Amino acid sequence: MKKNIILFVVGVALSLNACKVSSQSKKTTQPEKNIEQKVDSVLALMTLEEKVGQMVQYNGSWDVTGPATGTTNEKKLERLKKGLVGSMLNVVSVQHTREAQRLIMENSRLKIPLIFGYDVIHGYKTMFPVPLGETASWDMILAEKTAAAAARETAASGVHWTFAPMMDISRDARWGRIMEGAGEDPFLNAEIAVARIKGFQGSNLASEKTIAACAKHFAGYGFAEAGRDYNTVNIGVHELHNTILPPFKAAAKAGVATFMNSFNEIDGVPATSSSYLQRELLKDSWDWDGFIVSDWGSISEMIPHGIARNKKEAALLAIKGGSDMDMEGGAYESSLESLVEEGKISETLLDDSVRRILRVKFQLGLFDDPYKYCDESFEETELYSEENQDLALEAAKKSIVLLKNEHEILPIKNSVKSIAVIGPLADDKDSPLGNWRAQAEANSAVSVLEGIKTHAAKNIQINYAEGVKLSTGERSFLKPLSLNNTDKSGFEQAINLAKTSDLVVLVVGEDAYQTGEGRSQTDIGFLGLQDELMAEIKKVNPNIVMVLMNGRPMDLTWSKENFPAILETWLLGSQHGNAVAEVLFGKYNPSGKLPVSFPRNVGQEPLYYNQKSTGRPNANAEVTYSHYTDSDRDALYPFGFGLSYTNFEYGKIQLSKTKFSASEEITASVEVKNTGDMAGEEVVQLYIRDLFASITRPIKELKGFEKISLKAGESKTVSFKIDAELLSYFGRDKKWVTDPGKFQLFIGGDSVDLQQIEFEYE
Ligand code: NOJ
Repeated sequence: MKKNIILFVVGVALSLNACKVSSQSKKTTQPEKNIEQKVDSVLALMTLEEKVGQMVQYNGSWDVTGPATGTTNEKKLERLKKGLVGSMLNVVSVQHTREAQRLIMENSRLKIPLIFGYDVIHGYKTMFPVPLGETASWDMILAEKTAAAAARETAASGVHWTFAPMMDISRDARWGRIMEGAGEDPFLNAEIAVARIKGFQGSNLASEKTIAACAKHFAGYGFAEAGRDYNTVNIGVHELHNTILPPFKAAAKAGVATFMNSFNEIDGVPATSSSYLQRELLKDSWDWDGFIVSDWGSISEMIPHGIARNKKEAALLAIKGGSDMDMEGGAYESSLESLVEEGKISETLLDDSVRRILRVKFQLGLFDDPYKYCDESFEETELYSEENQDLALEAAKKSIVLLKNEHEILPIKNSVKSIAVIGPLADDKDSPLGNWRAQAEANSAVSVLEGIKTHAAKNIQINYAEGVKLSTGERSFLKPLSLNNTDKSGFEQAINLAKTSDLVVLVVGEDAYQTGEGRSQTDIGFLGLQDELMAEIKKVNPNIVMVLMNGRPMDLTWSKENFPAILETWLLGSQHGNAVAEVLFGKYNPSGKLPVSFPRNVGQEPLYYNQKSTGRPNANAEVTYSHYTDSDRDALYPFGFGLSYTNFEYGKIQLSKTKFSASEEITASVEVKNTGDMAGEEVVQLYIRDLFASITRPIKELKGFEKISLKAGESKTVSFKIDAELLSYFGRDKKWVTDPGKFQLFIGGDSVDLQQIEFEYE
């Protein structure tokens, strides 16, 4: 019945607008043309008020009486019934989304379905590793699979759209949101962003098992000065194009349905009002036809930014800047109509935004059936399914990075008969779920202790002591942690256990709520009393495997000097403990590589491998430049680094030619051999340096990688193709160019341990 009403509206509209030509100028397929016609038809029926309504997104934790947040619920309910809301966020479950959709369908004039959005950042109910952690897998097929599984769970709960993937490049461990992205490198960020988009959206947005993705935050948000969230961003135009924008451009090309702009300003212009970013680049030059949602309240936040006196001025700046939908900011709702009526903006600006929003709703199939994602039986079988748990385990294992393994203390030997599992995070079933955990149940992850108990041989005695609490009181998304800086009552038991056990597994690091939005820190060490506990344990037993749990690069200088083994395990999601145990006991050979540099100390931040050479770069000269007098300047653990239980030997790089020109390409190949006695995986990395260019260029840039599996003794040849496009950059004349001249090419297992060769582009 409801479906029929919509079809009727669309049908009438189509006949009314039979002669209307689609606004799209680019080449379109027939199904796309059909959608364009339908969009135009609906648009032609809409009043100005209804158009503005489509550009409004409300927050609402839904209950039967209406959206449950804020002080204006009655007004919100009223507007919903009139169809003056285009989208809601934070309404989840079939029951609640159906209820909200019903309000529109049963009361509004045009019955334009709502699109429901939600932050599904690394899983919906089944949690996968936090995005920074999953990036350490360098496994794009895996990233696509976890996004697809998260999409299925989300869609099964009535939600159509995730605010992910985040692709903000970040070089600063202090920034709490570094955990939500893919680290410091543009190439890797772009690859994984595309994989995640493919996973979320599949090949058909209209399927009940896929959802719309959102490329965020456009742009520059990860470059917040001093790592302070929301802070000022200063990026030159070359840096913007060469470092920040590549993942966004790749996302647009991959057909991401939506973009979200960002809270920050860049060089004085809040991104929300940047017509350069949103109109000139994204919508015009990149020819992208989805819609841009603001970040939460970022339109009205132009008032505290000091560039709008009130919501009306903010709305004017944002619409001119190209923002299509106002997330819970109230500026579009209160001002767009009057701005049109007063002639300050033309209604065609609104038409463009509404057309974009309707297009995505049509693509999702919501006009055919607004309740198509409302299937309780799918919700029941899909959420937290066994299949999703298996995938969570696979993803968790592949994301672990082995940073140190002196005397091959790992995998744990048969001679070890007792293990002391110690640390504030050892039996933590909640932190592995990370921040931005959508509908994950609190304390639902497998802890490291649980994983060890499951996977240890029966004859190994497992002892456990928490040692110290990391924080006291309530932990939550909304509040900073209150750290435990005084209570050492658990020390004695932990020290005694360490003394009497063959091996210590020390599980330390960060609570889930130390990273995420608004979680910047100046200290990237082990907070609370963890340092003291670690030092005490070390005094009584040198056989320590440090299991690190964290969402940001941490200062591991002391740990590296004092512990024989360090395992970087991030926050791995629902199956955290099982994955860690499989690695500890050698059931899985670790294969992760760091997607971000780990500094020697916080003073080195921002730190990144693809830095530029300065005019006085020589560290060996009598007077050195670009250096510190109290610290080395390189990373403690570099980008791309990670060990295995086996060894990989690289043969000599072979180039198909040493000179090539625009119409050609060259191939660089290398043979990699597993010289150990265990099967393993290696991420073979290609870096390139442009030696002379019109602007200064990084000392090396990742330009390719391949993850390979090798049995003991096996060899494989890995080849990379290099063409002019791969070598191009946004140059001095503000165009993408490839300069003729010499390039260095590097191949290896991380960004430092590399072989080098030269070639020339003519
Ligand atoms: C603010 C965050 O910056 C953004 O990433 C998120 O999607 C929205 N809030 C909605 O929760």
